[in-house]
Amino acid sequence: MSSTTWTSFCPAQLSMALSTPQKRFGRLLLYVVGVIVILLVLWPLPYARATVRKGAGGSRTQLDAIRNETLGVGKIFAISLPSRVDKRDNLVLGSSVSDFHIDWIDGVTPDELNPKAYPYNWNYDHKPTEYAARRAHVNALQRIVRERLGSAIVMEDDVDWDVTIKTQLQSFAFAVRALQGVTQKATDSPYGDDWDIIWLGHCGVECRTDVPLFMSSNDPTVLPPHHFLPYWRDPPPMAIPDHSRLACAVHDAVCSIVYAVSYRGAQKILAALSVNPGGLAEQIDIGAQFDVSLGRMCGNGYLRCFAAYPSLTGGYQPAGPFSKASDIHDEGQDVHPASSNGVMYSTMLNINRILTGDKTVTATWDDAPIPVVNPVNISAVGGALLLLGEEGAYTLTDVDP
Ligand SMILES: *[C@@H]1O[C@H](CO)[C@@H](O)[C@H](O)[C@H]1NC(C)=O
Ligand SMILES: *[C@@H]1O[C@H](CO)[C@@H](O)[C@H](O)[C@H]1NC(C)=O
Repeated sequence: MSSTTWTSFCPAQLSMALSTPQKRFGRLLLYVVGVIVILLVLWPLPYARATVRKGAGGSRTQLDAIRNETLGVGKIFAISLPSRVDKRDNLVLGSSVSDFHIDWIDGVTPDELNPKAYPYNWNYDHKPTEYAARRAHVNALQRIVRERLGSAIVMEDDVDWDVTIKTQLQSFAFAVRALQGVTQKATDSPYGDDWDIIWLGHCGVECRTDVPLFMSSNDPTVLPPHHFLPYWRDPPPMAIPDHSRLACAVHDAVCSIVYAVSYRGAQKILAALSVNPGGLAEQIDIGAQFDVSLGRMCGNGYLRCFAAYPSLTGGYQPAGPFSKASDIHDEGQDVHPASSNGVMYSTMLNINRILTGDKTVTATWDDAPIPVVNPVNISAVGGALLLLGEEGAYTLTDVDP
């Protein structure tokens, strides 16, 4: 409302009721204060929006920590058999060109395991190699608890990630912060403080639909759906526009390829999968493979878990027979060239380009929206907080980074 409206309207009204100039001024002041209060009450929405956007901008400095040597967590662990020096070469070189640091958790083989170390409820229908794989993850969690790490990332050793991983993680942290309602607050972790597991690399996720979801848009590193590998869970019950990635609270997920875990999360998983005080295992663990048990712990509310859909990370298959890939399952012997799945700008497939000093990287597929890109041209993206209603998803708030 402009000041000209005031001078033309108010004095004319007031002059009829008031006699002295002092009284007139007092009434006028009350009137002005009253109108300002009414305006503030009637305009809560623009006021609230301004606060959200300002706060989101303030979290940007927190997201800077994600570009550090450990991607914004305390340490990064890769689980890998000491004998698979070839896979360690891949991870050391890949993390070096992406500028982050990996520590090792030795993979476990069944013959190294004392049979007495098996949890009493382990389902012996599963292969001994599957228990050994679960034990390697539990060893990683034991290490996180022993070293009192605030959070850590654990990855398996056949992983591939996008050359823009740091930017992707900033976008994703922005999304999971919004899901925790902490866009404007300072937090200990750049990913927020109210999570146990952030499931970055998986082969299927079932999102909770009773709480908000976050859709990040205009992200050129999101694969078109025809390049997804089969997921072992149904896609989320909403349309995901092209170049968009969903962040959601997890009801269930499979394949523990890459995940971040908080200190509290590591303690709780160690309690459930091994220490098992007071019959905890009966309630939440079915003696299954690590990823299956982890999915259940997310689904029954024991752990607070978030995930990306589609998966943020993918897999790398070095040149040679398929049997090189897995130490858990037996695969065929046919020789094939190196390949990558699940990431737009594969770090592993671009290593030669990066080492020759080329500033650009190529997409894994010719039909990518941007087949050749300078990664510095890709920046973190914002998105919208959504809620699923009877008519589909609707937007609660737009949030810009
Ligand atoms: C990276 O940032 C996180 C979060 O601030 C911090 O805990 C971690 O120690 C940092 N890592 C390095 C190597 O500075
Ligand atoms: C990167 O961005 C600059 C300036 O915006 C543009 O001139 C250049 O063509 C871009 N390069 C690639 C490879 O995306």
